Amino acid sequence: MSDIIIKTENLVKTYNTGKVRTYALRGISLEIARNSFSCIIGPSGHGKSTLMHLMGGLDGPTEGSVFIDGADISGLSNSELAGLRAKKIGFVFQFFNLLQNLTAKENVETAMMFSGVNEKTQKEKAKGLLSLLGLSEKLNAKPSELSGGQQQRVAIARALANDPEILLMDEPTGNLDSESEAEVLDNILKLNKDGKTIIIVTHNRDIAKMAAMVFEIRDGRLVDDGKTK
Ligand SMILES: Nc1ncnc2c1ncn2[C@@H]1O[C@H](COP(=O)(O)OP(=O)(O)O)[C@@H](O)[C@H]1O
Ligand SMILES: [Mg+2]
Repeated sequence: MSDIIIKTENLVKTYNTGKVRTYALRGISLEIARNSFSCIIGPSGHGKSTLMHLMGGLDGPTEGSVFIDGADISGLSNSELAGLRAKKIGFVFQFFNLLQNLTAKENVETAMMFSGVNEKTQKEKAKGLLSLLGLSEKLNAKPSELSGGQQQRVAIARALANDPEILLMDEPTGNLDSESEAEVLDNILKLNKDGKTIIIVTHNRDIAKMAAMVFEIRDGRLVDDGKTK
């Protein structure tokens, strides 16, 4: 297999809201190496989340293509995209997006609901992932009983439930205090060492310093091709 896991070619994304047209991405071409740790940085509103959504097949481009493992995903139907995401990509968002009335363990288990894995294995796996993220004492805690950093670690465990090769994280520490941020970053670094391809969207340059590749985006264009760090 090629050592390029995600490639984008001249990605353009425009949003039309009423009469207003927003040029979110104006032609982004980049390559993400397998098992690498990359950051996408840039000011708020400059297209980072849009780029992440397109790279993960959550949304389609206006122009251009996304290749995952060499395959162009533009032609895939919504259900094929959902299948691809479930198999290959874990998402983590700034506000955790956990289900509030479920425990940590149940939040992770629900991610495996459509994976064909039996219930017993789901339960064991959820427990294992939460332990891996240092939460073995919190299996039965609800999100409201957890700190921000702990909630984000549950969200990371959930993102890992179906063994994705790629983790796409949009401002994963944007809502955390510095102690929780360090704790979450520590876990992310460990996952990268264990072979996950990590892509973090952030406007925090300290996080970017830890990455092997940094893509800087301004007004929907790359100002850094990620190879010059
Ligand atoms: N669903 C949408 N509909 C309309 N405009 C959008 C949508 N999502 C993003 N935008 C616009 O696209 C631009 C880039 O947004 P975004 O990718 O969220 O930036 P960032 O993540 O860097 O803050 C912004 O001007 C934003 O308002
Ligand atoms: Mg954003």
